[in-house]
Amino acid sequence: MRLSVIGCGYVGLVTGACFAAAGHEVTCTDIDAERIRRLQAGEVPIYEQHLEEILSSARKDGRISYSADAGEAIRAGDAIFICVGTPPKESGEADLSAIDQVARQIAEQARSPKLVIEKSTVPARTGLELRRALAAYSSGGKSAFRVASNPEFLREGTAVGDFFHPDRIVVGVEEESAAADLREIYRPILEHKFHCPVHQGSCPTSQPAFLVTTINSAELIKHASNSFLALKISYANVISDLCERIGADVKEVTHAMGLDPRIGGQFLSAGLGFGGFCFPKDVQAFIHLAASVGVDFDLLKATERVNKQRIDRFLEKVHKALWVVKGKHVAVLGLAFKANTDDIRFAPALEVVKRLLEEGAMVHATDPEAISRTKALLPKVTYHEDPYEALRGADAALICTEWDVFRHLDWKRAKPLMARSLVVDGRNLYSPKHMRELGFEYHSFGRA
Ligand code: UDX
Repeated sequence: MRLSVIGCGYVGLVTGACFAAAGHEVTCTDIDAERIRRLQAGEVPIYEQHLEEILSSARKDGRISYSADAGEAIRAGDAIFICVGTPPKESGEADLSAIDQVARQIAEQARSPKLVIEKSTVPARTGLELRRALAAYSSGGKSAFRVASNPEFLREGTAVGDFFHPDRIVVGVEEESAAADLREIYRPILEHKFHCPVHQGSCPTSQPAFLVTTINSAELIKHASNSFLALKISYANVISDLCERIGADVKEVTHAMGLDPRIGGQFLSAGLGFGGFCFPKDVQAFIHLAASVGVDFDLLKATERVNKQRIDRFLEKVHKALWVVKGKHVAVLGLAFKANTDDIRFAPALEVVKRLLEEGAMVHATDPEAISRTKALLPKVTYHEDPYEALRGADAALICTEWDVFRHLDWKRAKPLMARSLVVDGRNLYSPKHMRELGFEYHSFGRA
């Protein structure tokens, strides 16, 4: 099928690339002409595993193209995926101005009927507004557009695999024909007819659920899912605080909890809390949406509060161990909001670094992918590609992101490089017993 993708960020690029790899003809556009120019030149503006590889093969096969001209891109597709940003406003409410802008462009530029699909995370009822906007901006006020919602459930770092092997595909529609079109668009994924670069022949064979719902339900499913995962993390973090007071081990507790299939073992890791561009903003937007219809979502307000306190809890540990922070050489291991991404948006590590700098610490930081993005924001930090160089002369090592390279760091080698053998672990990467045996003063979350 001929598809258009509006917005070439994480979601749009992965969507466009994977649909092209699945055999569709995809045209991508973005308001940022420089981004389009780079994509046309074969550059990939974001780091996402396997993305470069599938984009380059789709380009070679002529299945993906880029245009800075939104009108051209809109006219190229029969179905248009809206993948623009919906950042939070000061109040926490989602800013939908980019969606409105795109609705206007589609209404003005389309020359034939289109299926318009919102993929961006939006509050419930946005689809209905989108349909109204498309009609209002169309000449004569009569819309030739069908609207659908098809939320993404892509994790940064594993987005390509998540796209090809989803647990569920949710399509919110108003008419049966839209569901049929979306089923056709997803047919290669449902029938496993694509070349998957992630698993190299050993792909999961399970069939994803294809769920047809109302548009309101589809929009709600996305916010409800992300907020529930955030709630799970905050729950694990409170359990971790309890473990510290009581003298229990949070890893033992959450592992046993997770073996109950009703609970599930994922998203129960305690530590510095959740960051990134999805969870913090989705939780805020969901609280706001609930309030706008008279529902007080106290449970989510607590989720947010607990998450914000994680940074304070971590810095309390740092203060307790270091006593005076001013003038100390602190090595920060990890800047990205989680492992396997260069994304630093709402990364707990950045807040930690900012607070340490404010207190007069000398911060030396390392991250496998996120250094160049962080440099512009935090120029006072000394950056090292090599973690052992960041640790040289350090009074303390602070673990802020759960990268595998840090998990497998050779602490025997690091120890003589450091001025003091102190590790404060915000991601519970190591065994306290092992670190103490190596001669480290070691602090982590929820474990003695
Ligand atoms: C999330 C959702 O998982 C995805 O379905 C949605 O479409 C977009 O938002 P993402 O933001 O990429 O994806 O990150 P995710 O892997 O879900 O992690 C979110 C944050 O939670 C990270 O900061 C991570 O470090 C933290 N986290 C995760 C924990 O603190 N503990 C956990 O147990 C799991």
